[in-house]
Amino acid sequence: MARRLTTRPTALRRAVATVAGGCGLLVSGCASNGQNALHAQSPQSHDIEVLWWWMLGVASLVFIGACAMLVLGWFSRRSKGLPFVGENEGVNKGLVVAFGIAIPVVILITLFLISNVAVIKATAAPKTSSTKLTIQVIAHDWWWEIRYPGHTAATANEIHIPARTRVNIEGTTDDVIHSLWVPELNRKIDVIPGRVNRVLLYADHPGTYRGQCAEFCGLQHAHMSLYVVADDPAAFQRWLAQQSQPAPATATGLAARGRQLFLANTCASCHTIRGTKANADIGPDLTHVGSRMTLAALTIDNTPAGLLRWITDPQHVKAGAKMPALDLSRPDFVAIADYLRSLK
Ligand code: CUA
Repeated sequence: MARRLTTRPTALRRAVATVAGGCGLLVSGCASNGQNALHAQSPQSHDIEVLWWWMLGVASLVFIGACAMLVLGWFSRRSKGLPFVGENEGVNKGLVVAFGIAIPVVILITLFLISNVAVIKATAAPKTSSTKLTIQVIAHDWWWEIRYPGHTAATANEIHIPARTRVNIEGTTDDVIHSLWVPELNRKIDVIPGRVNRVLLYADHPGTYRGQCAEFCGLQHAHMSLYVVADDPAAFQRWLAQQSQPAPATATGLAARGRQLFLANTCASCHTIRGTKANADIGPDLTHVGSRMTLAALTIDNTPAGLLRWITDPQHVKAGAKMPALDLSRPDFVAIADYLRSLK
């Protein structure tokens, strides 16, 4: 008896700890990192969010109803027939038909129609005549290449768009299947080899919206993120003109030595810096790498220390990335980092 008295509170404590831990995990998932499907920043995302709340509401009602019936069944387990109804076969059959067939069919058809007729239509690939700008997004293991047709601008892991403007995104991939998802702006699209899938990006306000590859694509799938930066339309045009410029033809001081080292080593066999002889396309275009917020698809911040760390020991920052560790001295790496930082 004494043993029962001591084990019960332990079991209770365990159950409480488990529930509290679970709730803690759930709440931690609500922490905002600018990538929250329930924090819509566009009409398309708003439709998805409303549908999600409706589905949660209906599913919760069904769940609570089922739990209530289980409890009722438990308390009436010694009585014959159903609670309130008794042993009336006609009523029993009616209940099965109503709750087992009719109500689920009505609920499922209603949700299917709302999601298909309204939400899928609102979030579908836009008519190109309805958009003002097309941007190409090409996925690579494990980063995003961004191109602006009609302009030489090319960037990586940062899609700049004008705010309050319908932008047509054409997504494809250079290697395996990835999925482009910016939850606060629209639904996800798979990007598939040999195919172009499209999605609309529209931001209600200027801001920075985080996106993520949403299809497992290998070792660094979790480190394949991107930012959508919505600028005021005039600021966007200035940004695009600036990003379309080539890099300065010369550099001074330490950066001049870094430029020389960059062009003489394998860096130039993988990257492009417009305005120099480096014009390879295995890694990101670095013409304006100094102006980017992050490196390695949001893996680290683009600070002087971060950049130096990335070029010195890339496999430690992002194991499996195509970026090799070069056999250079520390002063050489510092010079290359200085040059890359100067490419604003
Ligand atoms: Cu790319 Cu997951």
